[in-house]
Amino acid sequence: MVSEHAAAQVLVASNRGPVTYALEENGELTAKRGGGGLVSGLSAIGESETGAALWVCAALGDGDREAVRRGVGEPGVRMLDIDAGSHEGVHTDAYNGIANSVLWFVHHMLYQTPLEPAFGPEFRAQWASYETYNRAFADALAQSAAPGAAVLVQDYHLALVPGMLRELRPDLRIGHFSHTPWAPVDYFRMLPDDVAEQLLRGILGADRAAFLTGRWADAFTECCVAVLGGTSGTRIGVHGLGADADFLRERSRRADVEERLVALREQVGGGGDRKVIVRVDRTELSKNIVRGLLAYRELLASRPEWRERVVHVAFAYPSRQDLAVYRDYTASVQALADEINSEYGVEGWTPVVLHVKDDFARSLAAYRLADVALVNPIRDGMNLVAKEVPVVSDEGCVLVLSREAGACEELGEDAVVVNPYDVTGTASALYAGLMMPLEERAERTKRLAAAATALPPAQWFLDQLRALQA
Ligand code: G6P
Repeated sequence: MVSEHAAAQVLVASNRGPVTYALEENGELTAKRGGGGLVSGLSAIGESETGAALWVCAALGDGDREAVRRGVGEPGVRMLDIDAGSHEGVHTDAYNGIANSVLWFVHHMLYQTPLEPAFGPEFRAQWASYETYNRAFADALAQSAAPGAAVLVQDYHLALVPGMLRELRPDLRIGHFSHTPWAPVDYFRMLPDDVAEQLLRGILGADRAAFLTGRWADAFTECCVAVLGGTSGTRIGVHGLGADADFLRERSRRADVEERLVALREQVGGGGDRKVIVRVDRTELSKNIVRGLLAYRELLASRPEWRERVVHVAFAYPSRQDLAVYRDYTASVQALADEINSEYGVEGWTPVVLHVKDDFARSLAAYRLADVALVNPIRDGMNLVAKEVPVVSDEGCVLVLSREAGACEELGEDAVVVNPYDVTGTASALYAGLMMPLEERAERTKRLAAAATALPPAQWFLDQLRALQA
């Protein structure tokens, strides 16, 4: 039960928080804790070190909103029902309309530019909601922060918060972290000038703006220079979030993962002689799942000796299904997988095993089993799958990795690097992966795992906090 929030010394703000509530049929609320770098980072800061910590997040569904209404909550978490009172629909407009349909599309360069974007009245209405939603966060943070507290604002959902908060509470140390890529300047400037300015000024309201790689940090700086003439004293930092080796190694050896491993082997078939190409993604436009399937089909077409000797295990988990483009994309993934299966499949061999229901234990089982992991996003802030697979892999795994993923900066040397638009090139990379001698594969996996775990989540978080407080 959290009704009052003591003045916190360290605050995190993000759209999606560490816990969500589901409203059961009997009227009870059940809480589900999420994972991820921020959760382990925040739990790593002992109170003795930093004082009380508070996570401010948005109520995302009916369960969350009901929890806010009933005053149900976890210590250290403050959930904001942005849509309460006269604000009905504000969160949806801000989250689906601006954050996921505009800012996500700009930073991942996803627009089909002859038709989109077209920034008109609908966009302007949603933009007003985005401002309201950011304002709600800024107000809540201003209320809950102790004098001189450190506030770590996360991601494109909350780009205006640092500037708004700075005005309310000049005493605070404010950081902003972008978990996405940052758009190249010409692409970013598709946004209306006033909106582009507001977004940059919003982030520059922070003492420090940080990114996952130097490439995204440089792109942000270039945008600031082009649009505003400079970064006006805000420090720019880079923190390359790594995989959590201890957690992954322990978790991937548990019984539920072993069970799924057995089930997956059965689905792959071939008595253990078949090779497995694995991908695990949210069904997300930027993940480039369709071109990955096209590349696999090209491999089967051009290297017929691999038919019946390889299976593509593809997990494409539901994401942002409120948006029609995401639903359509999910349907294209499903249709193409079916097409490949009817084109090439024979009795006893299904070329593509596609799962679309989220299951973390099964993902870990697939990581263990993979001979080749395909991570081919069009653009990606980091991509943690690329970092997790080498850590968990049983016998070494070739990583086929897009040069447009942030992770490529750290993993490029030991991965097979691809241009994500080059389907034929990706097919060749998959082939190279299947052909790589086991010894070389194991050596590379060892080096990949070391690079992937260089900055574990807790350290990643503490580094940011210290840099902000310095
Ligand atoms: C990306 C973003 C995160 C976001 C996640 C899942 O990684 O950087 O901020 O939470 O995608 O997206 P969702 O819309 O489901 O929160």
